[in-house]
Amino acid sequence: MKHLLTTSDLSHSQAMNILDTAEEMDQVSQREVKKLPTLRGRTVVNLFYEDSTRTRVSFEAAAKRLSADVVNFSAKGSSVSKGESLKDTVQTLDAMGADAIVIRHPAAGAAAQLAASDWTQAAVLNAGDGTHEHPTQALLDALTLRRGYAAARDTGSRGTDLSGLKVLIIGDVLHSRVARSNVWLLTTLGAKVSLVAPATLLPVGAETWPVTIHYDLDEALATDPDAVMMLRVQAERMGGAFFPTSAEYTRRWGLTDERLAVVESLRIGPSQAPAMILHPGPMNRGVEISAAAADSPQSVITEQVTHGVSVRMAVLHLLLSGRSET
Ligand code: NCD
Repeated sequence: MKHLLTTSDLSHSQAMNILDTAEEMDQVSQREVKKLPTLRGRTVVNLFYEDSTRTRVSFEAAAKRLSADVVNFSAKGSSVSKGESLKDTVQTLDAMGADAIVIRHPAAGAAAQLAASDWTQAAVLNAGDGTHEHPTQALLDALTLRRGYAAARDTGSRGTDLSGLKVLIIGDVLHSRVARSNVWLLTTLGAKVSLVAPATLLPVGAETWPVTIHYDLDEALATDPDAVMMLRVQAERMGGAFFPTSAEYTRRWGLTDERLAVVESLRIGPSQAPAMILHPGPMNRGVEISAAAADSPQSVITEQVTHGVSVRMAVLHLLLSGRSET
């Protein structure tokens, strides 16, 4: 593996290798001294053309825990606002000796374009390209689901996949790179994925994906999912009106306090463990998820953030440690 651009081309064994490596990294993160010397002398550039809190901070923490030098570049306040092209920016960063470029960009395909170009020899990690893909988010979601699934069955997490786990993804699928990356990865790992969304927020072609599609949230919850993954309503990507009002969205598609009561009764497989609630953040509390649902004991939202660092350490380690030093 040279780059991480999408989850759609990850094989089962590649995905499992990343998750198992992330488990090892997780142990490092629990130590008093949270550092490994693996990437000493290497440079990781965070190239962010879109806002981010969790993903950027998490990549930075991951690179630092592996002893890499980190350069943070955000388009705001840079020469990008003077009209500099992606090519010129990347060539500048490459000239400074970047070994890995973590890129978030509003255009779908930006990371792939960078990886295919001769602008840089660095490993390219897609941290979100438009509405297309967000592979490390899906990997951290998979790690979180796998941990919960293993705990419910009282087995170890390492080496186990998601076979048989029922995951319901809820909300703004149309604009969600998180949903797309999860559909590919979770199904590769053996999960059964369902989507439920307003018809206006389902992409054309979703019926060809390896998923079951529902149009009514209460009906979808009645299918007994083991995990519900809420998606943010991505208002910044909505040019027009996709639903009447925010209150109407919440009533029909939100994880409200009433629906939380339903989710509280769900159990993972035949175990007594309660179903998991996920959200990639940032949350619109009171829109797609109620405060009580976000903060409930079933919520694994903070675990997702913690696992984000371990997964990104694993990916940086796997992509860079196999390369000769530049
Ligand atoms: C997601 C993103 O940016 O795609 N957030 C994240 O990376 N944690 C989801 C979102 O913005 O809704």
